[in-house]
Amino acid sequence: MEFRRIDRLPPYVFNVVNDLKPSARRAGEDIIDLGMGNPDLATPTHIVDKLTEAAENPRNHRYSTSRGIPKLRKAIVDWYDRRYNVRLDAETEAMSTMGAKEAISHMAWTLVAPGDTCLVPEPTYPIHTFSVALAGADVRSVPLGPDQDFFENMKDAYEGTWPRPRLIITSFPHNPTTTCVDLSFFEQLVAFAKEHEMLVIHDFAYADLTFDEYQAPSLLQVPGAKDVGVEIFSMSKSFSMAGWRIHVSRAPRHPDRRPGARGMGRSLAEGDDVRLGGDPGGTPCRRLARVREVLVEGRQGRGVTGGRLRPSR
Ligand SMILES: Cc1ncc(COP(=O)(O)O)c(C=O)c1O
Repeated sequence: MEFRRIDRLPPYVFNVVNDLKPSARRAGEDIIDLGMGNPDLATPTHIVDKLTEAAENPRNHRYSTSRGIPKLRKAIVDWYDRRYNVRLDAETEAMSTMGAKEAISHMAWTLVAPGDTCLVPEPTYPIHTFSVALAGADVRSVPLGPDQDFFENMKDAYEGTWPRPRLIITSFPHNPTTTCVDLSFFEQLVAFAKEHEMLVIHDFAYADLTFDEYQAPSLLQVPGAKDVGVEIFSMSKSFSMAGWRIHVSRAPRHPDRRPGARGMGRSLAEGDDVRLGGDPGGTPCRRLARVREVLVEGRQGRGVTGGRLRPSR
C-alpha cells in the first residue's frame, strides 16, 4: 500500500538510533545513547498531586474545551506578562494543545498546502521538517551554524524559491545545535517576515533551559511579532512533563474565527487557580548544568557548535 504523505518523510533519526542500539548492545559494545532526549527528573510533586486530584473528579472525564480551560489560558497570558512583559488576550491569543510537536504539525496543516514552501534551519529538530512534509508542502533548508550568516542564507533561500516561501519555523535555544539568540535576532526575523509577507512559527521548547545568566528572549517581545508569528512553549522540558503531552502557545487568530485546535485543557479543574510558575526549568537546569560541563570538557578542541547567533549587519 502507498502511504503518500509518509513516503515523503526522510528517515526518523530517533528510530534509526533505536534500531542501532540493540545490535550494538548484542555485540557487547558499551554505548552511550545520545538519541532522543528525555527529561530524567520526575515531574514536580505539586503538579502530580493536582493531576491525581483532577483525575478523581468526574467532571474532568468529559470532552475538554477545545482551547483549554479559561484559567489555564489566563495563566498562559500572565506568564507572558510576568516573564516577558508581553500582553496577550486570554480569549483569542492563548491556547493549550497536546504537546509542541502536535501543535506544530497541526499548525503546518492549517498554514501550508501542496505547492507551498517553508524555510527551516538545517540541522533541525525533526518535526520542524516533518510537519511541513506531512502537510504536503516543501521544505527549503537554511544552513545554521557558527560560520554561517543565517539571514544571508535565509535571503538566498527566499530568493531561490518560487513560488516564494510562506512560512519560517525556528526554535531558539536550538535543538540540536544549542545555538541561542538575542532579541535583536528576533527583531530582524520579524522584519524579514513582514517584508516578505511570511509567517513565523517559533518553537520555544527550551525557553528555560539556559545557563550562565543567559535568558532566552521570546519572539513575542518584538513589537508587531504577533502580526506574523506564533510561539509555542512546551511543559515537557521546563516542568519535566514530556509524557503529559501539554504545551501552551500564543495562538494565531484566523480573521473570522477564534483560535481553534483540539486541546488538553481539563486535567486541571475549572475552579482551581492555575499558575505557570514555581521554579520553571530551575531544577532541570541545575541537573543539566553538570551534564553540560561534562560534555563541554569532552568536546574541547573538537569544534564545539552552538554559541550565540547574531543578526546580519
Ligand atoms: C525543539 C523541540 N521542540 C519540541 C519538542 C517536544 O515538545 P513536546 O514534548 O511539547 O511535544 C522537543 C523535544 O525534544 C524539542 O527538542
